Amino acid sequence: MKKAILLIFVFLSFSIIAQNGIELSHLQCEMLTNPLGIDVLQPRLSWQIVTDETEVEQTAYHVLVASSKEKLENNEADLWDSGKVEIDASINVPYKGKKLDSRDVAFWKVKVWTNKGETQWSQTALWSMGILSYAEWKSTRWIGYNQLFEGDTLGQFSKLSARYVRKPINLEKEVKEAKVYFMGMGLYELYINGEKIGNQVLAPVPTDYTKNIKYNVFDVTNQLIKGENVIGTILGNGRFFAMRQEYKPYKIKSFGFPKMALQLVVTFEDGSKETIKSDETWKFTPYGPIRENNEYDGEIYDARMELPNWNKTGFDDSNWLNMMWVQEPGGFPEGQMTPNMKVMDTVIPKSITETKNGTYILDMGQNMAGWLQIKVKGNRGDIIKMKFAESLKDDGSLYIANLRDAQVTDTYILKGEGEEIWEPTFVYHGFRFVELSGYAYKPKLEDFVGKVVYDDLKTVGTFECSNPTMNQIFKNAFWGIRGNYKGMPIDCPQRNERQPWLGDRTTGAYGESFIFDNQTLYAKWLDDIKFSQTLDGGIPDVAPAFWRYYGDGVTWQGAYIKVADMLYQQFGDVNVIKNHYPYMKKWIVYMESQYLKNDLMTQDKYGDWCVPPESLEIIRSKDPMRLTDGQVLSSAFYYHLLQLMKKFANIIDADVSDVAHYDELSERIKTAFNNKYLNTKTFSYANNTVTANVLPLAFGMVPKDLEEKVFQNIVHEIEAVKQGHISTGVVGTQFLMRSLTNFGRGDLAYKLASNTTYPSWGYMVENGATTIWELWNGNTADPEMNSQNHVMLLGDLMIWYYENIAGIKSSEVHPGFKQIIMKPDFNAGLSFVNATYECSYGCIKSHWTKKKNKLVWNISIPPNTSALVFLPTTDVSKIKINKRNLERVSKNIKTEGDNLVFELKSGTYSIAVK
Ligand code: BGC
Repeated sequence: MKKAILLIFVFLSFSIIAQNGIELSHLQCEMLTNPLGIDVLQPRLSWQIVTDETEVEQTAYHVLVASSKEKLENNEADLWDSGKVEIDASINVPYKGKKLDSRDVAFWKVKVWTNKGETQWSQTALWSMGILSYAEWKSTRWIGYNQLFEGDTLGQFSKLSARYVRKPINLEKEVKEAKVYFMGMGLYELYINGEKIGNQVLAPVPTDYTKNIKYNVFDVTNQLIKGENVIGTILGNGRFFAMRQEYKPYKIKSFGFPKMALQLVVTFEDGSKETIKSDETWKFTPYGPIRENNEYDGEIYDARMELPNWNKTGFDDSNWLNMMWVQEPGGFPEGQMTPNMKVMDTVIPKSITETKNGTYILDMGQNMAGWLQIKVKGNRGDIIKMKFAESLKDDGSLYIANLRDAQVTDTYILKGEGEEIWEPTFVYHGFRFVELSGYAYKPKLEDFVGKVVYDDLKTVGTFECSNPTMNQIFKNAFWGIRGNYKGMPIDCPQRNERQPWLGDRTTGAYGESFIFDNQTLYAKWLDDIKFSQTLDGGIPDVAPAFWRYYGDGVTWQGAYIKVADMLYQQFGDVNVIKNHYPYMKKWIVYMESQYLKNDLMTQDKYGDWCVPPESLEIIRSKDPMRLTDGQVLSSAFYYHLLQLMKKFANIIDADVSDVAHYDELSERIKTAFNNKYLNTKTFSYANNTVTANVLPLAFGMVPKDLEEKVFQNIVHEIEAVKQGHISTGVVGTQFLMRSLTNFGRGDLAYKLASNTTYPSWGYMVENGATTIWELWNGNTADPEMNSQNHVMLLGDLMIWYYENIAGIKSSEVHPGFKQIIMKPDFNAGLSFVNATYECSYGCIKSHWTKKKNKLVWNISIPPNTSALVFLPTTDVSKIKINKRNLERVSKNIKTEGDNLVFELKSGTYSIAVK
């Protein structure tokens, strides 16, 4: 009997563990899945708890890290056994094991205890270390050939043929394991024995190659064989051999001819190792099929010049040239900690129309960034040209005036061997329409596929609501944001610019993070900014500073601090603050010493860029009533940044004197600012633009008792003067929507968001935009500066969609969505919202519907997080959660103004409010 009870007990307790349905997934190291070649010595580990159980909280974790899979399987954690650590952290858990050396591989798994039972060990994940010291690259030669060849041009339109590089290698033993460490500048394709390595395109991510260079690492065990193998690479120009040279050389930075450095580390079955390194025995030809490649101008591919099997054994390379040992680019080699670009999506064109002069116009139906794959038949030597544009002129031809001197043309020269399928390798275009010429027949829609190319970052947000205009704006934002991720956030993907302007992302990066998992991209960008800092502390307008602009503004440069704050707020990333704090401080001090006069910041470069101008044709307003004084913008913004610096100093426990300085300085600025700009009769700032009033209001500079009055000036300007329209530019729009809601006029924010008349985001939609324009008047303004795919005018619109409309916001006290603030504005004007956001802990859902006298709100809160939920009533009895009374579901219920506020732990809830 006793035995039977014991057995039942054992069985029961076993099933509690096995069937409690709590599992671990999404194991990540430095926010990447099984990354190879990282050079972070103490990488951070994260996992997600997956369960249908409610109110699940992690109480402890146990991480095992081993040097081999087998060891890990036997729980032999020779690198790190964390033991049971009683803490709720499940993201950003630092590795604290043995110091890892170059190329070491670490296999890891984790189990956790929760208040609802413990999990099994997770699946195994891994990371591998990169090459950790400069010395280890020294014997690997940088190879290239610093010379133009036939057809190459160096000048305003700088074009080279792609360099095809090959090296036969002989491996005498069976291969057990092999990895390649590769720097291929500007862009590369890598092959072993004819097989393309990896699915990345346009790799690696661009940097200022004189400061840092990203190497990529691949496991190539399966591509190598015992005996003769061939490594092949194609080198393209990218940003290394700049698109414009000997043309505005004071501005445009170029880095020289394409070059590369490679290490192939092979471990044989017998345990011995061999490292193959690039040197002058590698051979190359400039006479392959890619005749020209230039990001602005396009690619020319001559299929007649293809080199069959050039990247396999047995190819005769006797007439190829030897690479030369060339100077290294100068930048420090770093493991790439953000994904490369990939073909992330495809677009099937909507229509094809013949024009009067025998060309065809292909309409993709969507402004996109990437390229076109074509299928074509014809004679050897036939030339097909594809020219790309965002829109058409009235006569149906391409509108290319807004592309400036970008030639945006891909050319394919047929080899004449039946059906030929082609897509370019080293360029991308921003386009909706393609003009096709050179066809001897009418091509069919099926002959074309649009390839959407951007950084391999997961889409983490969805949004839908009862207003179709707002839904289309969301779609436009989605397409605009992804189109402008190019290993760095660029301004636009089509004209001769494509630069990573800081000011476009000051707040934009935050809104974008609700739609794309952009953590690693922006962490990399902060490094780009850091590397572009001058010795005395200045930061450029564009980073990497491919364009050498050091305008010393605040609103653009402030992106450095604002984006770091975003990474902390949205992802709980403290490292970015630790790593960048000294450089941010240096910039803050630099600006103070250079430009602070009478406690006001005097330097500004772009003003409230792109306000709706006085006439529909112009780009830059000259109307003093529309523009906001640069000193107002800079001083307010600098004040705001000082508050963030204070926050950072506290987070990282910086010197107390730092905090004291930020406090003292910001007080002085606030006083001077209010003295100079606050009109105490009209309660408006400066010339009473919305921007002049909204900045001090959003930044907490306005004396408390005057806030409401200042706010009323904003309301008056929008409602009465502009009849419900926006009047802000890139700076003001970053704080507008949230401020309207925070000060109780969510309805006015909704009016702006759903407007379809000029100027508004909806006006862009009404006029056929499928992305976001650079200018409010993009359909009528001068083409000189008029991109149809810019994201800067989004301001804080996407943040407002998520935080204020869907009610998905990370608390500032417990960042990274450890605690979620769920406070939608149910009364803004919408009848339903359905949004999801996948944060580091799992998926947050918010789906509310307002019916007659009833509000139904379905929410999901991921395991190991909790939410503070706000409901628009003070009457507890009106609320049912999962059909139960509120008091039975949450203990901590408070009244805050007209709201009830209570805490919910993880789970799925259906809330009904009568
Ligand atoms: C860019 C903008 C940028 C601005 C700064 C423009 O040419 O496209 O995105 O922020 O210049 O002046």
